[in-house]
Amino acid sequence: MTLKILAVVSEIYPLVKTGGLADVAGALPGALVPEDVAVTTLVPGYPAVLAALKKPQVVHTFAGLFGHDARLLKANVSGLDLLVLDAPHLFNRPGNPYVDADGKDWIDNPLRFAALSRVAAEIGQGLVPALTPDVIHAHDWQTGLTAAYLRYSGRPAVPTVMTVHNMAFQGQYGRDLLPALGLPARAYAIDGVEYYGTIGFLKAGLQLSDRITTVSPTYATEIRTAEGGMGLDGLLRSRGNAVSGILNGIDTGVWNPATDARIAAPFELSRLAGRAANKKALQQRLGLDVDPNALIFGVVSRLSWQKGLDLLLERLPALLAAGGQLALLGSGEMSLANGFAGATTLHKGRVGMVNGYDEGLAHLIQAGSDVILVPSRFEPCGLTQLCALRYGALPLVARVGGLADTVIDANEVALAAGVGTGVQFSPVSGDALEAAIWRTADLWRDRPTWKKLQKNAMKTDVSWTRPAAAYARLYRELVAGRAG
Ligand code: ADP
Ligand code: GLC
Repeated sequence: MTLKILAVVSEIYPLVKTGGLADVAGALPGALVPEDVAVTTLVPGYPAVLAALKKPQVVHTFAGLFGHDARLLKANVSGLDLLVLDAPHLFNRPGNPYVDADGKDWIDNPLRFAALSRVAAEIGQGLVPALTPDVIHAHDWQTGLTAAYLRYSGRPAVPTVMTVHNMAFQGQYGRDLLPALGLPARAYAIDGVEYYGTIGFLKAGLQLSDRITTVSPTYATEIRTAEGGMGLDGLLRSRGNAVSGILNGIDTGVWNPATDARIAAPFELSRLAGRAANKKALQQRLGLDVDPNALIFGVVSRLSWQKGLDLLLERLPALLAAGGQLALLGSGEMSLANGFAGATTLHKGRVGMVNGYDEGLAHLIQAGSDVILVPSRFEPCGLTQLCALRYGALPLVARVGGLADTVIDANEVALAAGVGTGVQFSPVSGDALEAAIWRTADLWRDRPTWKKLQKNAMKTDVSWTRPAAAYARLYRELVAGRAG
């Protein structure tokens, strides 16, 4: 029997994206089709989403949803079945979905995402009978209240899965908001939405969902510790085996070096020669010296503390001394952007950077770099190292979270067994990063070994096939559990 899932999420590729969350939301539905799982995704009606809808069908009208009328629209866009919450008072704001033009969180974010969660819960309770799902799958803090609305409605509810993509974002707001959110006073309890004297959106989701997943097995372990749990480790430990890790994949249609229209020349394992043209194009694009023998370290990243790029900035002299070039695409914190911008002037031809968000350049960096660097302090899964594997750029990663789970370090044992796919370092420190850069440069000098590692990398299965099967199993277990 086809299982019907309602996914609820605050961003989705290709319509609106600030990071890997959107990639996951955009790719998982297609990957679940062979598992006989049909996903409909509820998303906010941001301008970019509404603009993409062709002939949407109005399936419900809300009289006064948190202050104003709103509509629920149904449409198919880029192969995705969408339900769009058209609530202009909450979502008719261009640009980044979470922050205003000055980079400040929209003040009404709790209400905006509570509205999304509330509508998800109502759909789960038969708001539009033809669309009632078997399971609701909520992603990240923005949708954490879904399980709370279901729990405190007093009506029968479908089972819920909550997936955490990043424990650093928890959605914590003042307790005085409780009535405005439409939650009863009894919800403000330790086994409800209360979180250290505030309302915790993610906390509520983790407390009240039937199952919790995160995006890699190692991160599932890390978030049960004081360091990784960021205040929620106790709760996660108390949920026992309701918590599990399912690794992300990438959309191997979007990320396919053999057909990628965004790169300079297509290539694949059997015709790797095309990589050279991409390397040259990348060097030209970023003002790097055109040199086929330079070892290009590429970075495609948000610029934030999480990503550990301050360590890279600090160890840039070592990277350059090792014969490296740096090709960096990033957006985020000004201090990091300024630091790298300074390095481009100081090391002309050796350090290139674009400060901004650029899908096309992200693909070219994957295709033209020899190494993709991901020195994250923590990384729930990470997607750029998966793209790197597929594009034959060896990932050099911190041994944390999903990075630990997806890259096989080319240490002596792995080299002897012929199974390495990249380089890992630990602990996450400047010294360890520097040592890993030197180790990578040694491997680069040994071209036959490098080619073997590159081949292993490109053969790695980074698709959604295995993860999708794991999600399908989880959904079916939940439905069977309810039926029994
Ligand atoms: P996170 O979600 O923590 O930012 P992930 O590695 O899971 O990290 O996902 C990041 C996604 O965003 C990848 O698809 C990556 O290619 C993309 N990305 C990150 N920064 C940029 C940028 N500046 N320009 C274009 N794409 C970017
Ligand atoms: C978050 C995490 C990242 C993960 C992504 C998708 O943004 O920081 O590690 O890959 O979500 O799950």
